[in-house]
Amino acid sequence: MTTPAADSDTFKAAVQAHWDAAAGSWDAHSPDIRAWLRGATDAMIAKAGVVPGSRVLDVAAGAGDQTLDLAEQVGRSGAVVATDLAPAFVAIVQDRAARAGLPQVQCQVADGEDLRVDEASFDAAVCRLGLMLFPNPLQGLREMHRALRPGGGVCTVVFSVPQKNPCISILTATALRHAGLPARDPFAPGSLFSLGRPGHIDDLFRTAGFRDVATTAVEAVFRMPSVDHYIAFVRSSASPILQILAGLGDTAAKAAWDDIRAQLQAFTTPTGWAGPNELLITAARRP
Ligand SMILES: C[S@@+](CC[C@H](N)C(=O)[O-])C[C@H]1O[C@@H](n2cnc3c(N)ncnc32)[C@H](O)[C@@H]1O
Repeated sequence: MTTPAADSDTFKAAVQAHWDAAAGSWDAHSPDIRAWLRGATDAMIAKAGVVPGSRVLDVAAGAGDQTLDLAEQVGRSGAVVATDLAPAFVAIVQDRAARAGLPQVQCQVADGEDLRVDEASFDAAVCRLGLMLFPNPLQGLREMHRALRPGGGVCTVVFSVPQKNPCISILTATALRHAGLPARDPFAPGSLFSLGRPGHIDDLFRTAGFRDVATTAVEAVFRMPSVDHYIAFVRSSASPILQILAGLGDTAAKAAWDDIRAQLQAFTTPTGWAGPNELLITAARRP
């Protein structure tokens, strides 16, 4: 699925503006995000075939949590090139890598659909929770395919279906209702679940030219001390919900957040708040 080029440019400009604004908050929540995605990240790095000395491309790197893990894995004899559409994120990764003493990390602002890296110049490529936001994910996969040497490994992590990610579904549906907007196709291009339909991402990988494509669904429970901590995270970093509620006045917005909070309370446990999620980890190689 693709969108016309002009729409795509407008969409990406909005995505970039949002993530530039949210970058600091996403970074501030790095410890929570790190714990949430620990298992998926370890699996992604292993399935992409990253080893000491590898040269790795990290697409839509965000605040660079997985970039630093990749840098530890490849060591000083390897390299990690972290790319993101949002310059604010790229600056954060640069800073984090410098503070962590990881000179093997290089950073560049780049659209994942137009990476501007040399053909066949990487041993492995990864993209954690980024590809589903691309208006044309097939083009993103073609770019990763082009960047990999023959035999190189790729691995992406995306959200699966709405039913397995109930908190995101509650957030979206409730925000739309309060904004007076109709329900949306959950699988629309560029949305959080756009690659979640069973088999869809595998088809895209194969169409992009990859072989040995395999997708695994993994549970990833987002744990926070309380529902209010989760809502604070969402309010400071989750783009689609904020965009939906942007037009509401203070009173209407408060009513929406109160409604969201009441529903998300269902995930409070005796030891804190625990929101279920399911992720799809897709691995393949360039023939
Ligand atoms: C949910 S964050 C994930 C960041 C990071 N990979 C992580 O897992 O913590 C999504 C990231 O995708 C980036 N992004 C969205 N569309 C993009 C595109 N077309 N090209 C490159 N990056 C993009 C955003 O700027 C943001 O950093």
